[in-house]
Amino acid sequence: MGAEPTGGPALPQERRLVTAIPGSRSTALSARRATAVSRAVSTMLPIFIERAGGGVLVDVDGNSLIDFGSGIAVVSVGNAADEVVAGVRDQVGQFTHTCFMVTPYEGYVAVCEELTRLTPGDHEKRSALFNSGAEAVENAVKISRSFTGRQAVIAFDHAYHGRTNLTMALTAKNMPYKHRFGPFAPEIYRMPMAYPYRWPTGPENCGPEAAAEVITAIDKQVGTENVACVLIEPIQGEGGFVVPGEGFLPALAEYCRENGIVFAADEVQTGFARTGAWFACEHEGVTPDLIATAKGIAGGLPLAAVTGRAEIMDSVHVGGLGGTYGGNPVSCAAALGAIRTIEDQDLVGAAQRIESIMLPRLRELQQRQAAVGDVRGRGAMLAVEVVTRGSKTPDPVMTQAVAHACHQAGLVVLTCGTFGNVLRFLPPLVIPEHLLSEGLDILDEAFDTVAARPAGDQVATANA
Ligand SMILES: Cc1ncc(COP(=O)(O)O)c(C=O)c1O
Repeated sequence: MGAEPTGGPALPQERRLVTAIPGSRSTALSARRATAVSRAVSTMLPIFIERAGGGVLVDVDGNSLIDFGSGIAVVSVGNAADEVVAGVRDQVGQFTHTCFMVTPYEGYVAVCEELTRLTPGDHEKRSALFNSGAEAVENAVKISRSFTGRQAVIAFDHAYHGRTNLTMALTAKNMPYKHRFGPFAPEIYRMPMAYPYRWPTGPENCGPEAAAEVITAIDKQVGTENVACVLIEPIQGEGGFVVPGEGFLPALAEYCRENGIVFAADEVQTGFARTGAWFACEHEGVTPDLIATAKGIAGGLPLAAVTGRAEIMDSVHVGGLGGTYGGNPVSCAAALGAIRTIEDQDLVGAAQRIESIMLPRLRELQQRQAAVGDVRGRGAMLAVEVVTRGSKTPDPVMTQAVAHACHQAGLVVLTCGTFGNVLRFLPPLVIPEHLLSEGLDILDEAFDTVAARPAGDQVATANA
């Protein structure tokens, strides 16, 4: 082991393919996996990872792939980032768990202090820590209901909030997240999303028109006075990286403020520098009452939080929030390391630089490829929506085929979207520029290759 490179930022920052993807060791592990792991837990790219860091994932066959996924927007500071590893090592040698509800420890308090400092707004705030994004969202709903004494929750088309019973109900898409898993939690009302590319009267009208439509629908169908919270992702994640039409979020926040409704932002995917701001709500100057965070908060360890106005957070009865592992000390140490890394390495600026490199390249791609209907996103949360030539009809088959071609060439990209036709890009914010450019070259080539194939071949490849 000693002479081999470890993971983390010390790994050679190069794409290196030494076998087919997947290689023989990954294939053998996949066979083992099939006999032990439920097939319900799916895998997009069956290469087994041995090390990772900076902008690369290295598999058990020795292939080094460019990472445009960050483990779904988690390792924004890079895998095995120095400060995260150091914090975890220190903490794990001291104690691993006491349960904050039994005997507290400083790390939990320090993370909550950082959340107060970093989240939008200079009002008095409090936080509570949890394990996963879904758990944070559930708690945001519980807190909103307790504070308002109301039950209705407003969610949106294309929303994704998790896989627990309540968050499945909040999530829009049936397959694969909800199918056959009902009954779902009641008192959730779904409203249209301000989706500029698909807004009937054009993207320029989307924000104000959608806000007016939503507010009328809430008032008429739910009753404003029955609404506990409006829950929204400031940029939708799994639903297709939909950046709401300009003005939509501020209008909803204003409506909530005027009517005693909690405006709750799900920043699980968008938070912690991902979009070129600490939190995506900042792009439109919106200050949420509650904000749910997870993913990028702790550099790869499981941690989540709800942060919000002190009067809302403290309105819940003593003992009403918590959980055995919520705010685990090792995860808190990791979070403090991740936050220091974001600040010391100016990863907010890095996300902005990634946007300035990637967006023009993706727009060029759109000019050349009729299948690229829309290019969107902010910071290092960017996507292309794939459609059939000359229309806005979603083309999930081509999307899968392009993703597959990227994987074969050593670039990890993810897909998403209600219609399965969005390629999304979430590189670690520490990715070196040469890997970013090389990844974009691979994407260009993948589109060229797939576009040149007859349609039948695309299906065969996508299902391979
Ligand atoms: C916006 C958003 N909310 C909630 C979740 C659920 O987070 P977790 O998978 O940690 O439960 C996700 C996960 O992708 C997400 O993107």
